[in-house]
Amino acid sequence: MNILLVGSGGREHAMAAKIVQSPLCDKLFIAPGNPGTENLGMNIDLGVSDFKGLEKAILHHNIEMLVVGPEVPLAEGIRDYIEPLFPNLMIIGPGKLGAQLESSKAFSKRFMQRHGIPTAAYIEVNQENIEVGIHYLNEHQGPYVLKADGLAAGKGVLIIENNGEAISELKNMLSGKFGTASETVIIEQFLSGIEFSVFVLTDGKDYVLLPEAKDYKRIGEGDTGLNTGGMGAVSPVPFFDAGMKIKVIDRIIRPTIEGLESEDIPYQGFIFFGLIDVGGDPYVIEYNCRMGDPETEVVFPRIESDMVDLFIKSGVGKLSEYQLLTNPLTAATVMLVSEGYPDAYEKGKVITGDVDKPLVFHAGTRILNGNMVTNGGRVMALTSLGEDIPSAIKNSLTLAESIRFEGKYYRRDIGLDLIS
Ligand code: AMP
Ligand code: GLY
Repeated sequence: MNILLVGSGGREHAMAAKIVQSPLCDKLFIAPGNPGTENLGMNIDLGVSDFKGLEKAILHHNIEMLVVGPEVPLAEGIRDYIEPLFPNLMIIGPGKLGAQLESSKAFSKRFMQRHGIPTAAYIEVNQENIEVGIHYLNEHQGPYVLKADGLAAGKGVLIIENNGEAISELKNMLSGKFGTASETVIIEQFLSGIEFSVFVLTDGKDYVLLPEAKDYKRIGEGDTGLNTGGMGAVSPVPFFDAGMKIKVIDRIIRPTIEGLESEDIPYQGFIFFGLIDVGGDPYVIEYNCRMGDPETEVVFPRIESDMVDLFIKSGVGKLSEYQLLTNPLTAATVMLVSEGYPDAYEKGKVITGDVDKPLVFHAGTRILNGNMVTNGGRVMALTSLGEDIPSAIKNSLTLAESIRFEGKYYRRDIGLDLIS
């Protein structure tokens, strides 16, 4: 079948690499894709929110499966738009209703409360009840966790120690710091523990558990400095042992999928559970309605099953007995970023080195006058497989050294905290 993948990051490059391995895939199209996906299929120059353009591409290229990488088109209702037009098209990614698990934190917190899913205690604040929010902040000790309700490109969560600052940031958020995304703010209890990410592919009834991962969000080594989209990741996660896995399935994954089903929220696609281990008990920090980036760059290379076959099974309600084959090796990825990221950075720096290796996943790159140049904050994710974290990470770091562009920065400590 011909497949259209929507997105342009390292996540989509890693997905594309897996999809083209399948004998079930005839032609792969990527909209808009990047120079990495160009080597795997045909990039189509369309934005992820250009539903009309995507509709035409589906028709023109005889697409039978649509795989949506990022959250924005899902939250905007790409499935709701495309599905009625192409009843036989298989779509991987939930409709607008299900995507609210990510696109509205107020929705996801209420959902978790209704279904008894462990998550931080919280209150919901808007301009009308701002006094309740201020009162809450005054009654509690820091650190304070303030979250914009809507999508804010990964920047909508503030963790603040100081009470006065928290109150002033609450006011800023409600007056539009993150635009309409922060018209409602969630103030929640601060949870202390180690974070990890778990992924499923579900048809809204059954699910297949994918390999778990841990990502490294802060810009600086030792988890310091500003939050980013992700500076690296590893899979598997050593502390996600059999006991933790059972707790995550029983307390979080099952109740989530049963909750969607019982509320008649159709859901076909990935659910990314952002979790935290608090003294041996898993809590949900957030849901995402898609795969993670850079988590996909370590999760997908560990999947040995045919991903297109798995997507088809999810489309025809045959996930219940699916046995996913995974690679026992450890995958690690190191993200090369532009100097200045996640604040302002320059683009257009010429990239040299071995950028066409199979597990080098492009994110912010483009071809300019015949040269490959940087085109974003996160430039590329360098994945390696190894017997353990040190051997996987060593290979990624060697590659990180050898690929060059002006202002290149990366973390050298990805995965080190997990080595006992
Ligand atoms: P999110 O965008 O929801 O993933 O939040 C960004 C980051 O903020 C998370 O990865 C956590 O490190 C942190 N965070 C979010 N919620 C909490 C919480 N309730 N307690 C502690 N840290 C949190
Ligand atoms: N790496 C975190 C995310 O994809 O949201």
